[in-house]
Amino acid sequence: MLAQFVSFLFLLITVNAYPAHIDLVSVLNDSDVSWTKNTVADDQLVVQSVQMLYSIGNDTSLSKCEKCKSRLLFGKSLAFTRADLIPTIWKQWCLESGYETTTTCLTNFGRNTVSNSSTGSNFADMLSLMNPLSMDGDYYCHYKESNQCALPVTPSNLSISYMWNNTKPAKAYVAPQPSNETFNVLHISDFHIELDYTVGTDANCSASMCCTPHTSNSKKVPQNHTSTGYNSFYTNANYAVNGTFTQGDWVNVNESSVWVPATTFGNYKCDAPEVLINSSLHSIGDYQKSNNISFDFAIFTGDLVDHDETAYTGYDMTVESEQIIFRDIKNTLDEVPVYSVLGNHDTFPYGEIAQEKSGFQNKFDWNAELMSDLWYDYGWLNASEAQQVKTHYTGFSVTTKQGLKIISLNSNCWYMKNHYAYWNTVEDPDSFGQFEFLISELLDSEANDQRVWIIYHIPVSSDILPPQAKLFGDVIERFSPYTIAAIFNGHTHRDEFQIMYKGNGTSDTKTEDNIVNNAWICQAVTPWVENNPGWRYYEIDTETFSIMNAYNFYTKLNETFTNNGSEPVWNFEYSSRTAYNIDWPTNAPLNATYWHKVATSIGSSNGTLQTYENFAKRFSPYTGDCSTGACDTDYCYVTSFYVDQYANCLNEFNITS
Ligand SMILES: *[C@@H]1O[C@H](CO)[C@@H](O)[C@H](O)[C@H]1NC(C)=O
Ligand SMILES: *[C@@H]1O[C@H](CO)[C@@H](O)[C@H](O)[C@H]1NC(C)=O
Ligand SMILES: *[C@@H]1O[C@H](CO)[C@@H](O)[C@H](O)[C@H]1NC(C)=O
Ligand SMILES: *[C@@H]1O[C@H](CO)[C@@H](O)[C@H](O)[C@H]1NC(C)=O
Ligand SMILES: *[C@@H]1O[C@H](CO)[C@@H](O)[C@H](O)[C@H]1NC(C)=O
Ligand SMILES: *[C@@H]1O[C@H](CO)[C@@H](O)[C@H](O)[C@H]1NC(C)=O
Ligand SMILES: *[C@@H]1O[C@H](CO)[C@@H](O)[C@H](O)[C@H]1NC(C)=O
Ligand SMILES: *[C@@H]1O[C@H](CO)[C@@H](O)[C@H](O)[C@H]1NC(C)=O
Ligand SMILES: *[C@@H]1O[C@H](CO)[C@@H](O)[C@H](O)[C@H]1NC(C)=O
Ligand SMILES: *[C@@H]1O[C@H](CO)[C@@H](O)[C@H](O)[C@H]1NC(C)=O
Ligand SMILES: *[C@@H]1O[C@H](CO)[C@@H](O)[C@H](O)[C@H]1NC(C)=O
Ligand SMILES: *[C@@H]1O[C@H](CO)[C@@H](O)[C@H](O)[C@H]1NC(C)=O
Repeated sequence: MLAQFVSFLFLLITVNAYPAHIDLVSVLNDSDVSWTKNTVADDQLVVQSVQMLYSIGNDTSLSKCEKCKSRLLFGKSLAFTRADLIPTIWKQWCLESGYETTTTCLTNFGRNTVSNSSTGSNFADMLSLMNPLSMDGDYYCHYKESNQCALPVTPSNLSISYMWNNTKPAKAYVAPQPSNETFNVLHISDFHIELDYTVGTDANCSASMCCTPHTSNSKKVPQNHTSTGYNSFYTNANYAVNGTFTQGDWVNVNESSVWVPATTFGNYKCDAPEVLINSSLHSIGDYQKSNNISFDFAIFTGDLVDHDETAYTGYDMTVESEQIIFRDIKNTLDEVPVYSVLGNHDTFPYGEIAQEKSGFQNKFDWNAELMSDLWYDYGWLNASEAQQVKTHYTGFSVTTKQGLKIISLNSNCWYMKNHYAYWNTVEDPDSFGQFEFLISELLDSEANDQRVWIIYHIPVSSDILPPQAKLFGDVIERFSPYTIAAIFNGHTHRDEFQIMYKGNGTSDTKTEDNIVNNAWICQAVTPWVENNPGWRYYEIDTETFSIMNAYNFYTKLNETFTNNGSEPVWNFEYSSRTAYNIDWPTNAPLNATYWHKVATSIGSSNGTLQTYENFAKRFSPYTGDCSTGACDTDYCYVTSFYVDQYANCLNEFNITS
């Protein structure tokens, strides 16, 4: 193998090597077609390189983890000279060797194109940055290449406390007393617009996204397949800007050609058609009118783009999805300011964002510029806040007119699917500078006795790299509860909460003394997958900005299947203060101690566990039956904040997730 490597290096220096040139247009319009224009020398280099990947695979002296790292090391040597060939080489090797499924090979290693959200070009960028022999290699090979390496133990000495000057103590570790006066804040999340949602297509599919023209099911519909009795087959159903609903045009649906026909307002296995998104937004507007209340502002915790396979998600549809949803929100919420984050789907390619100092950030500037312009134009941010959006990966800090600070972060920076996150994961754990931004904002608020909310898309316990999850938790611990009043997420589509305790997540650490804070995880508007659409609003104390109550609303999506195309009916679902029958003082906020009591009840009563699960899925027909083990992970979920805590909890209770 060494001999081959040397001959490979020789080949590399004899070919006409050119440095990776980056500019937005070539990046986004880079296409596999360009490969056919490559020279004979390039062809030879590709053949040799694929051979090299094979010989690594055939080297019996290497473990699968070492093989994965060896491929990265080899890729790194290529990344400095012919980064442009990396997607071609890896895709060919992956497909020919059957290393992964065809879809995974194309998604992970295919070159990005404007119309195709493959991440091979980002993989090449990552190779040029990472150190495959450090923990970068372990984390990458664990998370991005299906457990080729074991998950490393998070280093216990990892710390960024130097950022807040450890010698200076935090201000009084108690939260301020509520004032007994409240205002209302709307929380919406996870819209996931399915731009190509098509009435009459199959809402039950085995591949790709259901309810689209390219939906497919590997099982043929039998000839005697009985009709479902659905009757809401209207296309172009829509809401005018003034709120008037138009039923749209009747579509003749051949129900024998599909397992389940997609109806007007969506299905449990599909993302949201625009008319469902607008129905949700109008239900919010109607609620305000009929109850004579108004939302002082709204938070939106991300995810605008649908879940289709990468081959069907592109640059244009990402931009279009973002523009449509923010426009619809603006149209219906009018003067209510909306503070937003972007989610893992709201970028292109899927999940990716690069550090400013990496040299690749210009591939993502378009998104920060788009959000900056949109949020400024809609009056949600002022000019200087909009400027921050451009320099903080769409994050920003804003002080509301009530005096609360909201810090918006981009959780993709720490997301395990983001290739760039594998650059010095441990050696330079704040490579994005996002912790520095967060901490400087928190220090500033602490000095001014100002309370803060933090909003970001992905809950720290899931899908965030363990080193960054730990460091984020350290920050939360340092500034709670005096400064950090609340934390808000989306991402899971479930209506959930998560308590942060000090410690490693085992039972003995889950005491009242160890409670630090909690996250509010908002239910989704998209029904994908198997949920009823929902939203919520909070009653907020005017002085402390603590949450006094949360009111949750939903629509029974299955009732729209057979309602002849009339508008969905939205219902009040439950309030967080009363739903769990917890003995709690009426003037005390629903803080982490309150949720600790709820969690204790979830852990000790099957009735409460089922109540929690019903809310999580908003009573959809697919809500799990906890008596059959469907909710076994719930207790660990609500009592863990870090990835490692969750793993320790599941392990303690002998639960496989
Ligand atoms: C990509 O190329 C097409 C055709 O040349 C062009 O219309 C489109 O604007 C380009 N996209 C970008 C992002 O530059
Ligand atoms: C070993 O190499 C051959 C080609 O040289 C290839 O067909 C085979 O898939 C390789 N095995 C592995 C495990 O990579
Ligand atoms: C943390 O510990 C590891 C080895 O256990 C060591 O290599 C590293 O330098 C330490 N880092 C810091 C910041 O002390
Ligand atoms: C840290 O805080 C202490 C106590 O307030 C102060 O004396 C010291 O100068 C601070 N150090 C830095 C680096 O800010
Ligand atoms: C809030 O109400 C409670 C009980 O009604 C009362 O004890 C408390 O003093 C009130 N707090 C303020 C700041 O008015
Ligand atoms: C439909 O036909 C299949 C065999 O072709 C049969 O097994 C099944 O029972 C039939 N179902 C109904 C509802 O008639
Ligand atoms: C709302 O707009 C629609 C379409 O633009 C129009 O037909 C309708 O008359 C308007 N309704 C009201 C109440 O203004
Ligand atoms: C996306 O790329 C894959 C291969 O890289 C190709 O099979 C597929 O047709 C492409 N899809 C689109 C919409 O261009
Ligand atoms: C977690 O911490 C407790 C002490 O609080 C200790 O007894 C236990 O062994 C630790 N468990 C793990 C899995 O680290
Ligand atoms: C939550 O509020 C209660 C009642 O005011 C208080 O006793 C408790 O310490 C608070 N918990 C936290 C984590 O701030
Ligand atoms: C919708 O689903 C709920 C929950 O399973 C069920 O109670 C209700 O009867 C269903 N409604 C219709 C119209 O199917
Ligand atoms: C809860 O349900 C599980 C499984 O059905 C059962 O084993 C357990 O005893 C029940 N626990 C309580 C507290 O009722």
